[in-house]
Amino acid sequence: MYKIGFIGAGAMAEAIVTGLLANHLCSADEIIMSNRSQEKLKLLADAKGIIAAKDNQEVLQTAEVIVLAVKPQQYQEIKSKLAGLLKEKQAVVSIMAGITLADLQECFGDLPIFRAMPNTPAKIGCGMTGLADNGLATKEQKNFVASIFSSVGQVLEIAESNMDALGALSGSGPAYCYELLEAMADGGVMLGLPRAAAYQLAAQTMLGSAQMLLQTGEHPGVLKDQVTSPGGTTIRGLKVMEKAGVRGIMMETIEQAYLQTKQLGAKK
Ligand SMILES: NC(=O)c1ccc[n+]([C@@H]2O[C@H](COP(=O)([O-])OP(=O)(O)OC[C@H]3O[C@@H](n4cnc5c(N)ncnc54)[C@H](OP(=O)(O)O)[C@@H]3O)[C@@H](O)[C@H]2O)c1
Repeated sequence: MYKIGFIGAGAMAEAIVTGLLANHLCSADEIIMSNRSQEKLKLLADAKGIIAAKDNQEVLQTAEVIVLAVKPQQYQEIKSKLAGLLKEKQAVVSIMAGITLADLQECFGDLPIFRAMPNTPAKIGCGMTGLADNGLATKEQKNFVASIFSSVGQVLEIAESNMDALGALSGSGPAYCYELLEAMADGGVMLGLPRAAAYQLAAQTMLGSAQMLLQTGEHPGVLKDQVTSPGGTTIRGLKVMEKAGVRGIMMETIEQAYLQTKQLGAKK
């Protein structure tokens, strides 16, 4: 048996394989993968040294842990062909947004099943993954699945009932960060900074601020106050943000992403 199998050779599968290999969680010849287009699969298999399966069924029949890395709508099209092929001791990990553990259990039966929600910084080893499971996994399986995602960043185990909220915050979150980052840089460009310098300044400021929050454990309001001297420059900028309702806008942004997940889920 291969240690891990992937159905879908897209961006996320590639990111996870890169993390697995970089962290020596398994060797390339312990990873098998299938994909709809064979050319794309061959390119990735050649680049990473992993095994290219002839079809999805081969992955299901030969891997201890199977990662479902296709889009949710693609899964809906193929799930009837995946049903009933897994045996005892195998486990399923879905990274598909909005597909519940109950949906997966209906397809694969009473086996250990995990739902994971990574985000795109996983591609550079700085991801944030939420993880939930159906309670049927052994401790070893739980540890192994958690280590798959720790190989591409941080992992937070949460109740499945919070998975869609997590997706709206950290799954979609990189887009909101890039939007803010671009706007900050535009502010700098408006004042005459070269474009490249403005991106570097905005990005490193966002990275440093996030790292400071994580490392100090301080409340964000306390860290904000440390930058904000009485009668100074920063408080004048903050007044603009408060007047524009930036906090409320950001909360609503995340709420809307959550509601869209629910709406897409309801259409299934
Ligand atoms: N990207 C993110 O930020 C992110 C974050 C969290 C979760 N996710 C989840 O991760 C999953 C994959 O996302 P992605 O960004 O990696 O998508 P992607 O790059 O589009 O990859 C999907 C892959 O699945 C393959 N595929 C489609 N139908 C298939 C089938 N019937 N059998 C086998 N392979 C098939 C596609 O093959 P072709 O090459 O033929 O198209 C493609 O290579 C999604 O469910 C998404 O919800 C993504």
